[in-house]
Amino acid sequence: MSSSTRSFLHKGRFANIIEDGGGGEVVVPFDTSWLPTEILSAVAAAETLLDKKEENDNAASSCASSTTVLPDHLSPPMFVDVFDYNDPSYNVENDGVGKEESLSQLGREARSIIDDALDTKRNSEDVEDSTINAVLFRGLSNCIQTAQDFKTFWSGCIDGAEGRNEMTYVPFGKGRNTLDGVDLVTPFPPSMALKCHNEMSYNPRPAGRIAFYCIEAASKGGETILARNADLTKYVSTELQQFVKEHGGILYRREYYDERRNPNPSSDIHRHMGSWQKKTGTNDEKDAISFFTNLGFSLEGVNFDEEGTLIVENVHPGFIKDDDDREVWFNVLYMGLFKLADGTSIPSDMLQQLMLDEWRAVHVLKLHPGDWIVLNNQSVQHGRLPFVDGPDQKRTILTVYTD
Ligand SMILES: [Fe+2]
Repeated sequence: MSSSTRSFLHKGRFANIIEDGGGGEVVVPFDTSWLPTEILSAVAAAETLLDKKEENDNAASSCASSTTVLPDHLSPPMFVDVFDYNDPSYNVENDGVGKEESLSQLGREARSIIDDALDTKRNSEDVEDSTINAVLFRGLSNCIQTAQDFKTFWSGCIDGAEGRNEMTYVPFGKGRNTLDGVDLVTPFPPSMALKCHNEMSYNPRPAGRIAFYCIEAASKGGETILARNADLTKYVSTELQQFVKEHGGILYRREYYDERRNPNPSSDIHRHMGSWQKKTGTNDEKDAISFFTNLGFSLEGVNFDEEGTLIVENVHPGFIKDDDDREVWFNVLYMGLFKLADGTSIPSDMLQQLMLDEWRAVHVLKLHPGDWIVLNNQSVQHGRLPFVDGPDQKRTILTVYTD
């Protein structure tokens, strides 16, 4: 255990928790039984794992193999700035008429803290490791209890904000489920880990920031995982990085079937991706093309084939410049679904190594009800570990994005 000291710096209704000498450094899953065996060797490569595993082996062995066993209170990694909500006088039950304005004002206060934190470097000799990539607000559950409350808070947060506009989630396939009009996190199978990724890194315009509000945590597991792109870039082999560059970047390709000609597609891919009519919200082919060009896709990359299937393609270098002007790894090649721009496939041994290497940059953080984490999507990835819901406890995490 680290011997950290904590101090507080008050900012409006929030207190900045400053940990000196603490912070949860690389902590990959203690119970790794849910991981495919080839990933275990990479997990073991993270130095802290072995110590932690010994400490937790007994606890792990008694748990279901599909869940991780991690303590509830994990210190956030150093690149996350933490703020506690600090206004015990506020009570939604008694607030009546003032509730909307109060939540909206709280959103504005949070927004100012986020902008300060994400645009500021820690005062440290090692600037590279002191950049703040995320802000975690804790203890909001007494004032933000529902998706509706969150909507009001969020509207205050983005209201009048300069330089950041709310974005719509545009994934490869179908969109997310919503709760009172707010997106829920991806319905990816709970028994599987959702690997770290940058939101919409495959689109011409990825999200600038992404945020998660926890209404309810899973009864077991479901920890949020974070990985800085700068760290990933150190772990991903130079051979693969060079290979991607030499072959012109990554070709992201999507296919959306025509539901008029093919109302019941037999192809798994088509069923998974959905029709272009559903994707674009129109039955008009020109409007469907505009849907994508408005998102930054080039007109040449959006085409109907002779079956009426809409093919949407874009090439991304697979790297971006982060806030510190470093070229960082920024792609979803680990999914194993994409070719490079010149049609070359990634050799399978490189892909397997990538899947191992990426785990080495992972930090683990448990979101509790009332926690809101805002990430710089251009410099830190997110994902989550497997989880199990209880009969009366369903993991419920809201998500919003800005450019
Ligand atoms: Fe995501």
